[in-house]
Amino acid sequence: MDLTEQVENELCQTGIEELDVMLGGGVPTGSTVLVVGSSGSGKTTLCMQYLINGARRGERGVFFTITEPLFKLTKNMEGFDFYDKQLIESGMVNLIDLRIISERLGLDTEKYTVEDAAALLDVLKDIADELNVKRLVIDSITALCYRLQTKEMIRDFIFKLGSSLAAMKCTTFLTSEVPPRVFQYSQYGIEEFIADGIIFLGDVERKGDLIRTFQVIKLRGQAHSRTKLAMSISSRNGVELAPLLKSRE
Ligand SMILES: Nc1ncnc2c1ncn2[C@@H]1O[C@H](COP(=O)(O)OP(=O)(O)OP(=O)(O)O)[C@@H](O)[C@H]1O
Ligand SMILES: [Mg+2]
Repeated sequence: MDLTEQVENELCQTGIEELDVMLGGGVPTGSTVLVVGSSGSGKTTLCMQYLINGARRGERGVFFTITEPLFKLTKNMEGFDFYDKQLIESGMVNLIDLRIISERLGLDTEKYTVEDAAALLDVLKDIADELNVKRLVIDSITALCYRLQTKEMIRDFIFKLGSSLAAMKCTTFLTSEVPPRVFQYSQYGIEEFIADGIIFLGDVERKGDLIRTFQVIKLRGQAHSRTKLAMSISSRNGVELAPLLKSRE
């Protein structure tokens, strides 16, 4: 195996160029990365771009949504040039609404018992195995946990999810919703502990403008930059990163 091949097998390239550079090539294959941000910070867009970029490299992906119905998700994503309907139709990127899965399992879609959550987790795992996916997204872990009734149930579920994901071979991005302008990684304070990596999408106010920021907080097993970058979202390029401080000319 030559070096390039080895890097390709061991690292999962996000396809977001500046991020892969920051990470020294990509995310270690098989890791779980928490994508943290407040409402509108770009979590869904970043995760979809990660899956589409993977599909273009021949890596099958699955996107489990629980926050947005599929028609809304696809409508939003169709506004981006990177989004390719054909990759969805060909099954290279699979979009699955967890609420529909819950309904099919005969579960209450808004409230889960411990057994419901375990059943859902099993189905999620079966789907990932059956499709042989290399990339998995759950959008969001916050909304999933919100359906559990007690802190203990949430804690138990998060740890079960963590061990299921760790046993899978795919590289996972989980989104985590946090309040705006607060530096915390999760709603329940434990989601970050099952994550190998944390990406924080924030913003800074500058002259009345809100600038999107992007920072890799941690990534187990990988030396990486922790520099805060400016992030932009455009129809043409989706999520893009650039240095926050423009270098002096
Ligand atoms: N086609 C587009 N072109 C440029 N920017 C867009 C486009 N579509 C969405 N955006 C920007 O991206 C933001 C939403 O990004 P996204 O839905 O990925 O955020 P999110 O973190 O998932 O939000 P939420 O927590 O509400 O789910 C919008 O608020 C808008 O500023
Ligand atoms: Mg979203």
